Amino acid sequence: MRLSALLALAAIALPYSVADAAQDPYSYAEPERVRVRHVELDLALDFPARAIAGTVTLELDWRDAQALTLNLDTRELAIERVEALDDAGHAQALRYTLAAPDAELGSRLGIATPTQPARVRIAYRTAPAASGLQWLDQAQTADRQAPFLFSQSQSIHARSWIPLQDTPAVRFSYAARVRAAQGITVLMSALRRPAQGDVQSFSQPHPIPSYLMAIAAGALAEQATSPRTAVWAESSQVQAAAREFSDIEPMMQTTEHLYGPYRWGRYDMLVLPPSFPFGGMENPQMTFLTPTVIAGDKSLVSVVAHELAHSWSGNLVTSATWRDIWLNEGFTTYVENRIVEAVYGKTQADEEFVVAAGELQHKMRSLSENQQRLAPAPREVGADDALTDVAYVKGAWFLRFLEARFGRAVFDTYLRDYFDHFAFQSITTEQMLAYLRANLVDKHPGKVGWDQVEQWVYAPGLPESATLPAVPAFTAIDTARAAFLEGTLGAAALPAKDWNTHEWLYFLDHLPEAPMLAQVQALDAAWQLSRSGNAEIGMRWLPRAIRAGDSAAWPAARTYMLRIGRMKLTLPVYRIFASTPAGLAYAEAAYRAHKAEYHPLTRQAIEKVLRKAHAQPEAIR
Ligand code: BES
Ligand code: ZN
Repeated sequence: MRLSALLALAAIALPYSVADAAQDPYSYAEPERVRVRHVELDLALDFPARAIAGTVTLELDWRDAQALTLNLDTRELAIERVEALDDAGHAQALRYTLAAPDAELGSRLGIATPTQPARVRIAYRTAPAASGLQWLDQAQTADRQAPFLFSQSQSIHARSWIPLQDTPAVRFSYAARVRAAQGITVLMSALRRPAQGDVQSFSQPHPIPSYLMAIAAGALAEQATSPRTAVWAESSQVQAAAREFSDIEPMMQTTEHLYGPYRWGRYDMLVLPPSFPFGGMENPQMTFLTPTVIAGDKSLVSVVAHELAHSWSGNLVTSATWRDIWLNEGFTTYVENRIVEAVYGKTQADEEFVVAAGELQHKMRSLSENQQRLAPAPREVGADDALTDVAYVKGAWFLRFLEARFGRAVFDTYLRDYFDHFAFQSITTEQMLAYLRANLVDKHPGKVGWDQVEQWVYAPGLPESATLPAVPAFTAIDTARAAFLEGTLGAAALPAKDWNTHEWLYFLDHLPEAPMLAQVQALDAAWQLSRSGNAEIGMRWLPRAIRAGDSAAWPAARTYMLRIGRMKLTLPVYRIFASTPAGLAYAEAAYRAHKAEYHPLTRQAIEKVLRKAHAQPEAIR
């Protein structure tokens, strides 16, 4: 073995105890004592008050005969009443305490139970500023027909709209009845049942983790994309969305062919308002999507493939704690790429992976050693801190490595068995590794050493065994880019007329951070990059143009960051503005005028950037 590899291995030897990893530090729940196994919601949506109010009934599985306390997670909830229900449905009031809030975890709701009741019912009301909900006025929607509400529970925000055991280690089925005004369609991460009067009903028969609890409500229209799939959106957008996502059925068939039947019944997609803070969210049976993926040419539909893939990796087999999130996102990024390959071809799949790998390698440099691990040491990171490109791309890269070593046929069968074996369970990295060792590595000796597996999972950085596919189009782009930067090829002479979106992304990602102003201006004059309607191009172009000193790009960047609430896209623009005093003032003024339109999570993230810029201007890049 090479010396460098030996040194890397010495550095990894489990930096923490495995028992530690099974605890979820982001929840007050004690699932080893008592566990929620079914949830019944009876809620009303109060748009004028920006509140959800009603009751949640938790069906309990008491595991410790001595236990007489039920600890739940809440955040900014008003608790009105807690009662135990016996089998006949008789209610008995219970004593409870709502602890002082912790900034990250919220308030522990401790419920004292004289016996071990089968069910506990809580009457509660959400706060208008609930971190997991966004309420939009009618005027803030595309069609201005009705107000809009949507949730985003991942990672630890379900507790801001339902008191529950908010840890991915606990799974429960649920049913819901939701009262809403006429003209408001309610959707949840569940099957829709026929509405009765103003009550809309839902049922999720499969056990899911709390972060997949989801609700949306507004003036929504539906358009079918196949017998078991449909797109939901505001009326004016539903057609464009259905066109963009029309390959959803072939995507599903591909994934079923690879990894076994889709087990959730319907697969519907909801297009959210632009303030949706993520690209997509894999809420079961109802994926939530940012409108920024509707590029008009299907160039960004890998987001849909990604959320669909979570129906296997994540929703079926779930990471037990946030530290294990790579089991969700890494596996999903791998499956996403397999779907793209099957539906759009190997060139597109390779291009997408190479772009993602380039981003990972770039970002890795600014991550701590612990953050560079697939399975970081727990407690050193916040609930969402493990959610870097490492979980996504290094995770997928590890599976690509295994696929290459064991061969596609063997690896596909292995992965399909893995999904079956752990279906509807929440597992840790170590459980996944034990299964991998027994069912793949030891069964096919001589292909992969266990030390290599441990290096991928526990060591920082990328192993030497990380290879990338050759993409001829990218090689040509490298040549053209170099000639442009040297000044031997003019911007208009770049062979870019036929570049697809991913080829543009590759060209832009490997430009210098701050190209010379003249180069930026020439590129923009030739290719109108500041005016690109493709949000992924904008995210790469606008910060470079601003850093180069092209003040003509400022208004376009302002429009961009106010139009797009998806954090991954909007934050880089805020960051670049925040790096100079004049830019900071400009971004701050724009933010202040439009703050109300952003999601609570996006607001928090932007305010952090602005605060940091004031505190230590030189630290922002
Ligand atoms: N589950 C994630 C979104 C998420 C992660 C929300 C962590 C909150 C905390 C979703 O599946 C996702 O990964 N979305 C990506 C899509 C992309 C990688 C194709 C996004 O939003 O950018
Ligand atoms: Zn994901």
